[in-house]
Amino acid sequence: MQDKRPIGLFDSGVGGLSVLLEIAKILPNENFIFLADQLNVPYGGKTKRELEDLTERITYFLMKKKIKALVVACNTATCYALDYLRFNFDIPIVGVVPAVKPSAKLTKTGKIAIMSTPATAKSAYLASLIVEFGKHKNFLKLGCDGLEDAVETLDTNALEKLLDKYCAQIKKFGADVVILGCTHFPFLKEDIKKRLGPNVKVIDSGQAIARRVKYLLKRKDILSSSKDSDLFFTTGDEKEFSRVASQLLESIIKSQKAEI
Ligand code: DGL
Repeated sequence: MQDKRPIGLFDSGVGGLSVLLEIAKILPNENFIFLADQLNVPYGGKTKRELEDLTERITYFLMKKKIKALVVACNTATCYALDYLRFNFDIPIVGVVPAVKPSAKLTKTGKIAIMSTPATAKSAYLASLIVEFGKHKNFLKLGCDGLEDAVETLDTNALEKLLDKYCAQIKKFGADVVILGCTHFPFLKEDIKKRLGPNVKVIDSGQAIARRVKYLLKRKDILSSSKDSDLFFTTGDEKEFSRVASQLLESIIKSQKAEI
């Protein structure tokens, strides 16, 4: 069946665009509606209840736009609110969590660093992933304070300084695999790789999420066979979102204001 309804995605900011890019690579005929909740960025400082409330309102907003599936393109929101959303909404919902399982297969030294927001670093969800998939491995949970904000504004000076600092900590720890556990960070992958050298593998969850979305749409027979257009919304400043998103996606993005 041909189903042109869009796939909804949201994040606290521009980071979720890294997930959209991966999905669009393997599902080029799908239409997307992306919402950046920049009025409330960063999600890291919010309580579980606040995140449940915000993500519920965002999901209602996207449901009104007739989405056929939802991608919570944010590790922090997934860690704190995914179960809540799945309980309350009857559409396929895919979350993003740090790639702990694949990292355990890739490491040779047994030392793995996870770069995430401070909230994800201290979440029970991440702790449970490590218990389940990271047995006998040594993890450095690096809550990278400030890094997400620097991506939000594309502040090059701040990015350089913060990447130097966090990559130095990873080198000192001796990780041979680094997990990018925040959807803002895949946009920094090359800069991180450059700092850590060729012997360190840098991975994220984007491709796995894209495969999961494809699998679910196929199973439900709701894939689209031709593309119309994508829509971008922010609860923050439309012009600023459009500026940063256009740079990150390397195409002209015009966003609209969303009230959630
Ligand atoms: N991109 C979000 C993530 O993957 C950032 C969340 C936040 O705003 O703290 O976790």
